[in-house]
Amino acid sequence: MQKIILDVDTGVDDALAIIYGLESKKLDFLGITTVSGNVPVEMATINTHKILQLVGRKDIKVYPGANRPLLREPHYEYHVHGSDGIGNALDTIQIEDLEETDFAADFIIEQAKKFQGELTLVMVGPLTNLALALRKEPRLVEWIKEVVVMGGLVSVAGMGNKLPNSEFNIYADAEAAKIVIHSGLELTLVSLDVTTQTFITKEDIERLKGTKYYDFVLKSTEVVREYGLVQYGVSRASLHDPLTIGYLLDRSFLKTEKHFVEIETMSELNYGQTICDFKNHWQQEANVHVTLEVNAEAFVDHFIKTLRA
Ligand code: BDR
Ligand code: CA
Repeated sequence: MQKIILDVDTGVDDALAIIYGLESKKLDFLGITTVSGNVPVEMATINTHKILQLVGRKDIKVYPGANRPLLREPHYEYHVHGSDGIGNALDTIQIEDLEETDFAADFIIEQAKKFQGELTLVMVGPLTNLALALRKEPRLVEWIKEVVVMGGLVSVAGMGNKLPNSEFNIYADAEAAKIVIHSGLELTLVSLDVTTQTFITKEDIERLKGTKYYDFVLKSTEVVREYGLVQYGVSRASLHDPLTIGYLLDRSFLKTEKHFVEIETMSELNYGQTICDFKNHWQQEANVHVTLEVNAEAFVDHFIKTLRA
């Protein structure tokens, strides 16, 4: 089984990614690390524990990480994910007396050293933990097999979800993203170009009726679906983070190309933009597998079927 560490800022779609990954039974979760992003890291950690309880996988340990971006101030996304980050869908689960665990970046380093050449990192929040880990242990680049990141926007202008040209995870800590993207890690960017094409509607959610996830998915996506109505004219919840998991489970869901990608950190208008040099104007070596096409129908179907099983 593929060994992974999932790094989250749980978040509705982070929660769905955790459930999807665990229910696939095809990924070996070494642990889940949390980061400041959609919500403060403490809230992301509690939400992650709640989801693990819902799935029935309390055996998986959670490792809290960075409580703020490297240089900038945090920007939480309560308007997208609800006041507790998961649409107040798991209010009945109380999380108390959390076991003390290692700092996320240290856990990543320890596991990468232990499982050299075997570990895949799946990053679905701001990249602060991985940037810190890389600064502390540069040999991570040799040890980690692959990194799949949900983040960025590369092929179209103006379709960002934080600024016209910026996606939230990269915008939330663009300096960290810059460190990660130029580290030499084998990196795939699952960006808004493809993730916004993958979403669930109320109709899709109805297919979960009778499973233990129906109530959670219906309630947790309420605010997100309303936000979808404003953004896309359709009540829908995008499956940004689950698509990274989908890509690990079935590579045919996404078509990738390798190019040089740079992160903008200086501009006020475009802070956090991922600039893909498709024409190689800068004559730099390609550093990122960008994702330009998605088989959305097959992926969404696989997502729903996995949760039903
Ligand atoms: C990303 O930002 C967050 O709000 C989501 O959880 C996802 O990781 C989408 O831009
Ligand atoms: Ca996320």
